[in-house]
Amino acid sequence: MGAILISGTPGTGKTTLAMELAKSIKYRFIDMGELATSEHIYLKVDAKRNTKIIDERKLAKRLDKEIIANGGKVVASGHYAEILNPRLVERVIVLRTHPDELRRRLSQRGWSAEKIQENLEAEVLGVCSSNVLARYGKERVHEIDTTKLSPNVTLRIALDIIKSKDEIYAVGSINWLADLEKENKLSTYMSEKSWDA
Ligand SMILES: Nc1ncnc2c1ncn2[C@@H]1O[C@H](COP(=O)(O)OP(=O)(O)OP(=O)(O)O)[C@@H](O)[C@H]1O
Ligand SMILES: [Mg+2]
Repeated sequence: MGAILISGTPGTGKTTLAMELAKSIKYRFIDMGELATSEHIYLKVDAKRNTKIIDERKLAKRLDKEIIANGGKVVASGHYAEILNPRLVERVIVLRTHPDELRRRLSQRGWSAEKIQENLEAEVLGVCSSNVLARYGKERVHEIDTTKLSPNVTLRIALDIIKSKDEIYAVGSINWLADLEKENKLSTYMSEKSWDA
């Protein structure tokens, strides 16, 4: 038995799902960002981008300990879910949201245009999926497109995923790059800076 991780770009609904999922299966809920903040597990504050740089090694150690103490019964949410010990992880669910909808959600946060753009680009490229896939392997990694789903329906799908032995909602079928190209919106989301990189 191992932990269930909920990953995804900021604003995709990780905390909302992880809290409800943990309640429903009687696991301990841990939000990685909240844990890092409450226990000051960060290296420094990036004042320019108004974000804290997490001490990933220390946070991973702290979480691994917590998972062991709970006999694996932990649901953890965070957009850098790839830091944990793979031996302690059973399933990873990455939440995906169409960039138009994600832009709407992030615009309500009072973030700088640059920070919003950075996160939208990460969602378009599937950075979270790619990171957890590299760390945990495709058998354990699933994706849900929640763009048109209510939190309740998302919870039902997550329960199906963790109960199923099959690779349902397997990672790899969501491709915003291709969708945005069809919708003629690619240049809105990929800044010139990222084309040059
Ligand atoms: N399935 C869903 N459908 C529509 N809206 C949702 C869904 N899940 C969450 N939301 C809404 O999206 C917003 C972001 O949710 P939440 O805080 O859970 O995201 P998050 O991924 O944890 O973000 P962060 O990485 O910043 O912590 C909230 O306003 C929430 O009500
Ligand atoms: Mg959250």
